[in-house]
Amino acid sequence: MDKNNNLIFDAQHIWHPYSSIAKPSCIHEVVSADGVRLSLNDGREIIDGMSSWWSTIHGYNHPRLNAAAKEQIDQMSHVMFGGLTHQPAVDLSRKLIEMTAAPLQTVFLADSGSIAVEVAIKMAIQYHFAQGQPNKQRLLSVHNAYHGDTFGAMAVSDPENGMHNMFEHVLPKHLFAPAPSCKNDEDWQESDIAEFKKLISENQHELAAVILEPLVQGAGGMRFYCPEYLRQVRALCDQYDVLLILDEIATGFGRTGSLFAYEQADICPDILCVGKALTGGYMTLAATLCNDKVVKGIAADGSGVLMHGPTFMGNPLACRVACESLDLLLESDWQQQIKTIEQQLINELMPYQSMDLVKDVRVKGAIGVVELHQPLDEQMDWLPKFIVDQGVWIRPFRNLIYIMPPYIINEDDLTRLTRAIGKIIERLSN
Ligand SMILES: Cc1ncc(COP(=O)(O)O)c(C=O)c1O
Repeated sequence: MDKNNNLIFDAQHIWHPYSSIAKPSCIHEVVSADGVRLSLNDGREIIDGMSSWWSTIHGYNHPRLNAAAKEQIDQMSHVMFGGLTHQPAVDLSRKLIEMTAAPLQTVFLADSGSIAVEVAIKMAIQYHFAQGQPNKQRLLSVHNAYHGDTFGAMAVSDPENGMHNMFEHVLPKHLFAPAPSCKNDEDWQESDIAEFKKLISENQHELAAVILEPLVQGAGGMRFYCPEYLRQVRALCDQYDVLLILDEIATGFGRTGSLFAYEQADICPDILCVGKALTGGYMTLAATLCNDKVVKGIAADGSGVLMHGPTFMGNPLACRVACESLDLLLESDWQQQIKTIEQQLINELMPYQSMDLVKDVRVKGAIGVVELHQPLDEQMDWLPKFIVDQGVWIRPFRNLIYIMPPYIINEDDLTRLTRAIGKIIERLSN
């Protein structure tokens, strides 16, 4: 059979993330994956710099994750969660409660990151509703935020960044403060939070919650900001009776150097969303955790019923693999792995700062970002092929070339990724 058959069918019939069927973009077929390598149908192997969008922290085809999945399949792949429970859900929830901040004691197992955000928003609105404050239904977010693609999540994502703006008229109108911009606590100035402060104080009677990606804004621009911003926000939320939702779907499980980014600010959210790396990238699963204040607050209406319950909630197969992935992470020397990756990213990416096309280079934990002055959209005809020809998998976005590799990547493979970034910039310069 022609090895391009799949690609032809795919181009004609299958939507990819943010893709067009009318004008299909360059697609590669992966036949298998192992460690940090993806094998393509033309026999080439490429090094994964994306961790399949923050998720495959232990690499692909991991023997322990494989074994966990196989064992669970032989026992029970799925059972409904309404009226039933099972060991994998109990084990996973216990692990999540143990590894997150002490006040977070209750878990909702959601089926994707976006759904975890929907559930968080519902929790916040239900909390205030049950307190006799039905007018507290809006959220305060920040510019450059990204929280997912479902309608509730879109409504708290940057309204102007082009990803969702065509839905503007059907989305609830939330409030947006300027994107956090102070990079280091030492440079903190009161003006860094001034607009946020004004919005929360003026709208406190309508606000159910603040929602933020702590320390790293991901798909909204790969922007980093300082812990002091989070401390200030936490204090303002307490002052104005507004709940704090932290979305650690991208940053959670070690990526920024601490298990959760909020630890670097020494604060705790009322509601926490996790996902992506939760299953080590094996399958979709996310979770929304909350503190007793939220649980008791929701229960104040007499029922305590949280209005959400998807068909695949608490899927045993996903929970079992997630348990194994969390064990793997906690048994590993992940802090050292992240520090080593961080140092190498600093050493190998910072020199690109002097190139004409480069606006900024930044590194945080196992995340390396090269921001260009111009967006890459026009280059998309040749760029994906050029990147794969360098033996790597990197997926630039707007004016960003960024990597967040699996934590198990070795020095040589990481160098191949950083060199490939250099080659891309060189090629763009010609
Ligand atoms: C911070 C953040 N929140 C939420 C989401 C949505 O997660 P999912 O794609 O699993 O729905 C993402 C996905 O990129 C994310 O980065």
